[in-house]
Amino acid sequence: MRHFKTVVVCLACLTAVGLLGAVAFFFWPHSLPEVVASASQPSGAALIERGKYLTTAADCEACHTAPGGKPFEGGLGFELPFGTLYSPNITPDTETGIGGWSDAEFVRAVRSGVGKHGEDLYPAFPYTSYALLSSDDVLAIKAYLDTLPPVVRKPPQNDLLFPFNQRYVMRGWKLLFVPGSPFKPDETKSEGWNNGAYLVEALAHCGECHTPRGLMFQRKQGEGLSGGELEGWTAWNITPDASTGIGSWTDEEIASYLSKGYAHGRGPAAGAMRQAIDLSFSRLPESDINDIVAYLRTVPSLPSSYEVKPASTGPAASQASNPWSPHQFAGGLGRQLFEGACASCHGWDGTGQNSSRAALTGSHSVNDPTGANLVRVILHGSTDSIGTATSSMPSFAQAYSDSEIAALSNYVISHFGGKRGAVTPGDVEKAR
Ligand code: HEC
Ligand code: HEC
Ligand code: HEC
Repeated sequence: MRHFKTVVVCLACLTAVGLLGAVAFFFWPHSLPEVVASASQPSGAALIERGKYLTTAADCEACHTAPGGKPFEGGLGFELPFGTLYSPNITPDTETGIGGWSDAEFVRAVRSGVGKHGEDLYPAFPYTSYALLSSDDVLAIKAYLDTLPPVVRKPPQNDLLFPFNQRYVMRGWKLLFVPGSPFKPDETKSEGWNNGAYLVEALAHCGECHTPRGLMFQRKQGEGLSGGELEGWTAWNITPDASTGIGSWTDEEIASYLSKGYAHGRGPAAGAMRQAIDLSFSRLPESDINDIVAYLRTVPSLPSSYEVKPASTGPAASQASNPWSPHQFAGGLGRQLFEGACASCHGWDGTGQNSSRAALTGSHSVNDPTGANLVRVILHGSTDSIGTATSSMPSFAQAYSDSEIAALSNYVISHFGGKRGAVTPGDVEKAR
């Protein structure tokens, strides 16, 4: 289940925009022109290969697969502030999937968020990024999806409140927030930079998670990649800002994090980022990863959109008022728990014992006093699809109470981050 609950949606705004949409309906083009590939589109096996690459880079699988389900059969739940939406089946089954869709209908869905019968789709489907894809690339994705085994599966019925269950409400929103034309290469820049820009802004849709959202769930203009929030996790600032972004990371560190899921001195990736790396970025060619790094170096440098607490107030200060501070417990409950449950894999010094993936040194999660990601990693664990003993972190949700996990988190933040953790048992309860 993906949660968007914490996004404050301005009901009045959405309704107003919905009315605008209803008016716009009369001016909307109603017939659907045919979409044809350009002369440079590959054919045969080369087209399928290209489509497979694009489908991987766009990570269509992550959202169109329910836990334990078959790839692309849909059914993953998205918890929105006004109910639950389920991703559809995009295998080529003609009844429950997209087997009966024309090329034009598919291109319109992916780039404009419009369903087969003209209905408006919700932006949990990131067509605001995919709008930048070229027609050729969307057609190649369809050609690849058409080769998959059809799966018969109907996702559960959406459960959305009025007026949000009225899809036309989205129409005005789309007029305002969906780019009207595909990505245009910048001729003054290198081919690699343009490829990196296309990957970051369109295919890999980094901004859908790393850009803060406004009152209407739109990505905030002018704050691109400065940090977003997803399911309670913080998707950190990835602009070149030196203190709160990734300006101080070396190219090798960014490339290692994106392709392997960890970087020496920067810690491992968890949550949705771990999944995106596992299903998508780790499967991209090295040249793509280098192009992404080159592009990220050139985006506007911005301070974090989320709150960054002042650096190291030191352990002394942490003894002051926070009742969940490790120092408030005789013998240090947090320390005791860390010793018993964590040190065997992570080491006292955070070097990760025998696994470089378990090295915590420099991890953003253990340096963030809110502990947003840390608490979630402790509760839910972290692993890739292979999940070997050295690559997985178990879940501790059942093992410890909210107070224990709060004390443990604050200990980890002070021990590895040198900061005063602010995690309360209430925060842990919310993250469960
Ligand atoms: C972040 C999650 C996410 C990603 C990534 C994603 N989708 Fe979706 N997609 C959704 C959701 C949710 C819906 C349902 C939207 C609705 O019902 O309004 C959807 C709807 C669709 C539809 C409409 C199907 C129908 O039956 O109406 C198509 C087609 C589609 N997606 C294809 C793709 C393709 C192709 C990709 C990769 C290029 C992709 N999606 C990536 C979440 C996602
Ligand atoms: C589905 C949501 C999602 C997408 C898409 C996504 N990220 Fe992330 N990213 C996250 C989250 C959540 C974290 C925090 C992970 C953690 O702390 O373990 C993160 C962490 C990172 C970090 C580590 C930053 C730090 O300070 O530790 C980098 C670098 C990064 N992402 C780059 C990217 C790039 C580049 C892309 C696109 C190619 C991308 N991400 C796409 C959600 C996402
Ligand atoms: C069985 C070994 C093992 C145990 C026990 C373990 N971990 Fe982990 N931990 C890992 C591995 C491996 C990773 C990297 C996971 C990945 O790459 O998906 C990790 C990742 C992490 C991260 C990084 C998340 C990020 O976003 O940067 C944190 C923080 C963490 N563990 C804390 C803990 C704490 C606290 C405990 C004790 C309650 C603990 N771990 C117990 C193996 C373990």
